[in-house]
Amino acid sequence: MLITRIELRNWRNFAHIEAKLRETVYLIGPNASGKSNFLDALRFLRDVASPWGGGLQKAIASRQGISKLRSLMARSNPEVEIYVELSDDVDDEIPTWKYRLAFTAETAGHRRNIITKEYVWHREHGVLLNRPNDKDNGDRELLTQTALENAFTNSEFRDVAKIFASTTYMHLVPQLLRYPELSSPTAPDNDPFGQRFLERVAKASDKTRELYLKKMEDALNLAVPQLKELKMVTDKMGRPHLEAIYKHWRPRGARQQEDQFSDGTLRLIGLLWCLLEGHSPLLLEEPELSLNDAIVERIPILIERLQRKRMQQVFMTTHSYSLLANPGIDGRDVLILETGTEGTQVRGISEEEAVLLKSGLSIAEVLLPKARPESAEKITLN
Ligand SMILES: Nc1ncnc2c1ncn2[C@@H]1O[C@H](COP(=O)(O)OP(=O)(O)OP(=O)(O)O)[C@@H](O)[C@H]1O
Ligand SMILES: [Mg+2]
Repeated sequence: MLITRIELRNWRNFAHIEAKLRETVYLIGPNASGKSNFLDALRFLRDVASPWGGGLQKAIASRQGISKLRSLMARSNPEVEIYVELSDDVDDEIPTWKYRLAFTAETAGHRRNIITKEYVWHREHGVLLNRPNDKDNGDRELLTQTALENAFTNSEFRDVAKIFASTTYMHLVPQLLRYPELSSPTAPDNDPFGQRFLERVAKASDKTRELYLKKMEDALNLAVPQLKELKMVTDKMGRPHLEAIYKHWRPRGARQQEDQFSDGTLRLIGLLWCLLEGHSPLLLEEPELSLNDAIVERIPILIERLQRKRMQQVFMTTHSYSLLANPGIDGRDVLILETGTEGTQVRGISEEEAVLLKSGLSIAEVLLPKARPESAEKITLN
């Protein structure tokens, strides 16, 4: 199942945006245009739907309250709203599912965060949920919880809850993987920066891990040819580590663990693992970071090959010319974020841009110039 459409209202720096989504979504735009905020809307749904202690209140609290996530552009005290459509095929005229969630904070009394709308629709079964309903009106406390977050109340649309909950965010920060003690134990996300990435690898079955590590070693061989025999080992304390042989002038090479791997190696390992695990939707933050251009160019192909084997939706923010220069990228996969006084707008490619792409220019050539901040040339430190 894929998220085929999204609409956000009063979400962070978006007053109102709508976008059609395909199997791969490239989010491009200047710094602070809202690419990460866009991904955060999907993480928010994940946090609400998470069966491991998720829920609306926690999802809001972990973002420091509704005032942080409600758009500063919004006047008065409006609702924050997320709407998505889901389907197996991005070209379905009528989606399989529609899910809408809107919430606000009470302006008096308990000042609770309450749901103003929760709506679920299915192509065959019609409207399955439309809140506030009579029960909610009789007991307003019910409006502090979504039907999505509760197995009793989401039974008729469990598929939707499962898709949201399976959303995986990958923004591996090498220093945090090497030194997990640097990260906050109360990190709002379940694993936003890959601190617990090694646990994730350790949790896979032996067979899967062996298979994936072998595939990763082959891929890594091209990027970091000195690295051989990638495997997982446990230390005396029972903690998992990645280990590889680092070939050098001595015939046998030296064993190294993840704290000695380079930033690029660690980020590539994280990226490859998430792609192999097949999480969907998979949210990737700037996968190009720390990687050589020759590797970055290959990222779109890597993703497309895996998608041919199974349905996996990948969202990616990027600033990379090399990544977007890949001629295989379909122009319809790109969303361009443009900032303005009324908040950021999101758009797909225009007809004119489509013609340029057809004539042989790459996404990087046609669209990246438009994602440049207007006066970047003037940046200086006097
Ligand atoms: N509630 C809010 N209302 C309005 N703007 C907000 C809100 N919350 C965050 N922002 C703004 O959103 C911007 C950050 O957006 P975001 O981090 O998504 O950018 P980005 O496109 O990912 O940038 P980069 O390329 O630098 O990573 C900041 O300018 C921040 O002030
Ligand atoms: Mg960002």
